[in-house]
Amino acid sequence: MDHFDYRDGVLHAENVPMTAIAEAVGTPVYIYSRATLERHAQVFADALSTLPDKHIAFAIKANPNIAVLKVLARQGFGADVVSGGEIARALAAGMKAEDIVFSGVGKTRAELQYALDAGIGQFNLELEEEGAVLAELARAMGKTASAVLRVNPDVDAGTHAKISTGKSENKFGVPISDAAGIFARLSGLAGLNLRGIACHIGSQLFDLKPLEAAYARIGELVAELRAAGHVIDRVDLGGGLGVPYERGKVPPAPAEYGAMVARVTRGWDVKLMFEPGRVIVGNAGVLLTRVIWVKPGVARPYVIVDAAMNDLARPAMYDAWHDFEAVVPNGERMVANIAGPVCETGDTFAMGRDIDAVQSGDLAVFRTAGAYGATMASTYNSRPLVPEVMVDGNQFAVVADRILPETIIAAECVPDFLK
Ligand code: LLP
Repeated sequence: MDHFDYRDGVLHAENVPMTAIAEAVGTPVYIYSRATLERHAQVFADALSTLPDKHIAFAIKANPNIAVLKVLARQGFGADVVSGGEIARALAAGMKAEDIVFSGVGKTRAELQYALDAGIGQFNLELEEEGAVLAELARAMGKTASAVLRVNPDVDAGTHAKISTGKSENKFGVPISDAAGIFARLSGLAGLNLRGIACHIGSQLFDLKPLEAAYARIGELVAELRAAGHVIDRVDLGGGLGVPYERGKVPPAPAEYGAMVARVTRGWDVKLMFEPGRVIVGNAGVLLTRVIWVKPGVARPYVIVDAAMNDLARPAMYDAWHDFEAVVPNGERMVANIAGPVCETGDTFAMGRDIDAVQSGDLAVFRTAGAYGATMASTYNSRPLVPEVMVDGNQFAVVADRILPETIIAAECVPDFLK
């Protein structure tokens, strides 16, 4: 459930008409609903309420806006981060360092050092060598780094190939069959407290069975490691729950996920860590755009909007579907292609879509744009970096400015040898 609804024929974000935001901030612009963020965080936490010991670390790659992180920090969420920049964001939003999990397949030594300095709560190791380097860095500081080993359980998550992470050929984690050996070698190192296992098999999952299969393998591994004398007190179950992008296509509810986790992990006697991203923020955001032209096409018209693939990359990258709705629908429908102004055929949001009839100047939204939307935006074609707004009841605020080409050009320079 979200708080983007029609009132008197006008799409609102909570109590604010989208038309007011377009007038004040211009388009394209991402709009987040605080009430929706809070609701999703609550629903996810409730789904895990029967688990004895757990921590939810929001995967901030899905939406790293500081205001969004602030809302989630107030709900008791920590952060799952994958770069020094994401650590800085989580801290800037007021998250405690001990509530931060540092994932990422290619953490640099400088990033590991920064994370140690900050006192990050958990490092998710991606390879044996990383564990050795982390131990050495921590030792030099007189610290002990708390870590878990990410394993690749070799299950097919059944999602888009580009967001699937748990197959043996993917770059993530160590083969589950190598885990015991790596544990044996790393667990003796001073400076490192290797205390558990992590896995994450993919994103936008619509089926709980691959997750359950992966978790069952982790359970067997935990037993095997304990039998070998290791103390295992943490398991990180990753993220991945899907969200409904298209009306009528409904993913498993967080409650079903929570029930599955409770069943599979019964008796594990560990702290369970979770790294949800999309399920928390996906439907808490929309991308508001204005129709520039309705351009006649051979088979059907092209609705050219002022948002493009640089603002919302998901359709171009993953053939992703985002519902498109007029802000003030006139009751009529049309079948059209929807595209942005970028000079690439891939800058197409939909082909042959049955949509609200629109004409040039009309406002419309792409729904379910709160996850992997603004965070993946670029300035390709020297377009401005898309701004973000948060709505809270009757009020709204710009939470990320539109960065204009002038600002970006100012960071570039012509070297002396070209003068
Ligand atoms: N934990 C790890 C280690 C991850 O790699 C990810 C996502 C998550 C948690 C959060 O997964 P979620 O709950 O959001 O599914 N840009 C793509 C999605 C990339 C996901 C990458 N990893 C998209 O727009 O669909």
